[in-house]
Amino acid sequence: MDRQGELKIIRAAYARQILAAARIMDNARLEAALSATRREDFLGAGPWWILRWFRDYVTTPDADPVYLYTDDLVGILPERRLNNGQPSLHAHLIHQATPAAGAHVVHIGTGTGYYTAILAHLVGPSGRVTGIEYEPELAARAKANFAGYPNVEIIEGDGALVPFDEADVIYVNAGCTRPAESWLDRLADGGRLILPMTSDQGFGAKSIERAASAGAVFRIERRAKDYLAYWISPVAIFPCAGSRDEVSERALAEAFAKGGWQKVTRLYRDQEIPDERCWLRGAGWSLAYS
Ligand SMILES: C[S@@+](CC[C@H](N)C(=O)[O-])C[C@H]1O[C@@H](n2cnc3c(N)ncnc32)[C@H](O)[C@@H]1O
Repeated sequence: MDRQGELKIIRAAYARQILAAARIMDNARLEAALSATRREDFLGAGPWWILRWFRDYVTTPDADPVYLYTDDLVGILPERRLNNGQPSLHAHLIHQATPAAGAHVVHIGTGTGYYTAILAHLVGPSGRVTGIEYEPELAARAKANFAGYPNVEIIEGDGALVPFDEADVIYVNAGCTRPAESWLDRLADGGRLILPMTSDQGFGAKSIERAASAGAVFRIERRAKDYLAYWISPVAIFPCAGSRDEVSERALAEAFAKGGWQKVTRLYRDQEIPDERCWLRGAGWSLAYS
């Protein structure tokens, strides 16, 4: 068997392992997308920098792509701790986002595009993905990586400000202290927003417990004017440029300190929610218990 044949088998085993690690029992489409997408095509030439959790980066022994098919984060700009995210975390979040064939997905924080490619596989040729990346160098790399993809458009800019068409899924891959107005406005009826909310204590934290009490991912589903919200994962993730500010940073840190984010059921575009029902009150929005 040639090397490409071997890597196909390795990718298929990886896809199974990642779904098992994410405890996903019934998503053959996601398994196929993980199995078909070549991680090495999005991470530049090896050797690569692998992040060993709560330790540091370790380089792979050589440029054999086999080292990329583990459940590890890989440094894209390791000097800034900007990484290609953990496969089982993304499998879980993408599974929760349920991107259907034909859907429009907006991916905020595309990086160099590995998870954008998985989303493009899931929406298929009748759907499309708009990837938005803030860092010019990474946006340029993503544009080059998707040159042959008719269903992917990469835009350089701030995902909170770049205009985009109504989306069935908005998949945010950077830590915010508040949702952008445009994400709530442009989410289609029935659409899902995957929103990582992080205080400034979690990113680079030295223990899992510390990170888990400083970062939470919410799944927000639009139902006409209502937004159902529930917690789907702890997270420690690179900060979202432009979607953080001191006031909401403080409010979020206080909300994490008091606990209860797992009980959130609604996002309201309103801050007049009584205290006993409110987990986090922002300027003109709240995360609350219904
Ligand atoms: C944790 S990295 C993930 C990259 C990519 N999703 C991956 O896993 O390979 C977060 C990415 O979000 C980008 N980012 C941060 N703020 C952003 C914003 N306001 N709009 C778009 N991208 C942003 C960063 O430049 C970075 O590439």
